[in-house]
Amino acid sequence: MSTSHAAPQRYAFPLRILHWLMALGFLFMWGCGFAMTNLVPEDSAWEETLFGLHISVGVTLIAFLATRLLIRMRTQHPDLPADMAPPERKLAHVAHIALYLVPALVMAAGWAEVDLGGHGVTWFGIPMPQIFPASLVPNIAEPEEIAELLHLWLAYGMLALVLGHILAVVKHKLIDGHNLLPRISLGKNQDNG
Ligand code: HEM
Ligand code: HEM
Repeated sequence: MSTSHAAPQRYAFPLRILHWLMALGFLFMWGCGFAMTNLVPEDSAWEETLFGLHISVGVTLIAFLATRLLIRMRTQHPDLPADMAPPERKLAHVAHIALYLVPALVMAAGWAEVDLGGHGVTWFGIPMPQIFPASLVPNIAEPEEIAELLHLWLAYGMLALVLGHILAVVKHKLIDGHNLLPRISLGKNQDNG
């Protein structure tokens, strides 16, 4: 892949925009998901509105994730700091893959839950294709409940993963003296820490 002297200092601009836009989107999804299932009265207008928003923003995030992955595969990205130990490099690599993979699984489980419940995913009122027809899982009594449980555990598992990601950035700054934020930040600042 890229050699160290050819590697850029920062991620490509669209990746930096998508990183922060999606971080905001995920924050909304955790809050909205928790509120609609735990805080608002069942079968209320609020519940319906929040469900609609949760699903529509979720579909938007799926499109963002796909775009981001395509750009990620077609652009050069910065090398990890040269003095990082090999096991830590490996951990960073695996964690970054998980930060793409786990959100994709959360989204797939959410979509499956809506499809298997027979509701049909819509994006701000526009019907989306059925990806998980009930005939895919003919011998399971409650496929919707299984997808719901998966979605719940994956969504909160993803929250733990993201907290670990933030702690890793803080650790790199405080313990190793590397400021990684400029690599993903939006400003013109070329400081590479
Ligand atoms: C929902 C929230 C977030 C998700 C899903 C997420 C995910 C990711 C992913 C997938 C990468 C790119 C790895 C790559 O393509 O090689 C990345 C990079 C990065 N993120 Fe996040 N992130 C989130 C929130 C945050 C927050 C709040 C911070 C602030 C501390 C942050 C700081 C960084 C930094 C500094 C990098 C660059 C790492 C490097 O230098 O290689 N992220 N993030
Ligand atoms: C990464 C994006 C997503 C995150 C972070 C997320 C997060 C959450 C959370 C935290 C809950 C509440 C679980 C609980 O406390 O009971 C939830 C529920 C739900 N989500 Fe998502 N979600 C995402 C994407 C999606 C997508 C793409 C769909 C559908 C297309 C979806 C459909 C649902 C549904 C139907 C529920 C209600 C579950 C129930 O009936 O209890 N979600 N989500």
